[in-house]
Amino acid sequence: MTKGPGMDTRGEPRSELLALVRSLKERLQVDGELGRPLSYLTRPIDFADVGTAAIKAEAEAPATGPASSGIGSNLEKVRGELGDCRRCVLHRTRRRLVFGEGNPKAELVFVGEAPGADEDAQGRPFVGRAGQLLTKIIEAMGLKREEVYICNILKCRPPGNRNPEPDEIASCEPFLIRQLAAIHPRVICALGTFSAHTLLKSEAPISALRGHFHSYQEIPLMPTYHPAYLLRNPGAKKQVWADVQVIMKELKK
Ligand code: URA
Repeated sequence: MTKGPGMDTRGEPRSELLALVRSLKERLQVDGELGRPLSYLTRPIDFADVGTAAIKAEAEAPATGPASSGIGSNLEKVRGELGDCRRCVLHRTRRRLVFGEGNPKAELVFVGEAPGADEDAQGRPFVGRAGQLLTKIIEAMGLKREEVYICNILKCRPPGNRNPEPDEIASCEPFLIRQLAAIHPRVICALGTFSAHTLLKSEAPISALRGHFHSYQEIPLMPTYHPAYLLRNPGAKKQVWADVQVIMKELKK
């Protein structure tokens, strides 16, 4: 191609390099999440191997990490197919994609709304103030955080923590559906309005939805208040405690 006046190609190598760094970061994140050895960091990198296709191929290969058996490997597949997701605008402003974490065979899954600033920085769900409160709730239920699975409706942070847009939910939901199908928990707890509305296809207020089980793909689903709401309205902790007791009773059956 002939370069015309004013055509500046200096940006191309830079954007290629940025794309390469981004792919490498994504791969490190995926491998870290899946507990894979990062041995390629100490040997020369085959650059042809860095990218979404490679992430996908590896995620589909027989895995050897701690989350490798049975249902765990289905979850790995979902993570692999999500790859370095650019399906909606949120990829432009996110720092890290937050897939979810916990036991791939969990009996209980918590589904929140979307990563906030702390989650975006760390690539892990519910690690900020609301997350610390969620961890306390889990422990008060007699469980460890590692025993349950925690994820969100959206895998990327909406800028300024604004509400998720319908098209962002539509892009992300297929992955949540597949995550939940891979884990197949005994109970799901939907944290807050967006989570409950997305999973139940209902527009009823969370105050009316909470307190009793609904059904998601024949799995009992308990909507309750979001921990961030509890930080602003500590009086609602009583109701959340009542909701988690109903969950505990179901898990003991
Ligand atoms: N709020 C959410 O809904 N999810 C997180 O991961 C953190 C805060």
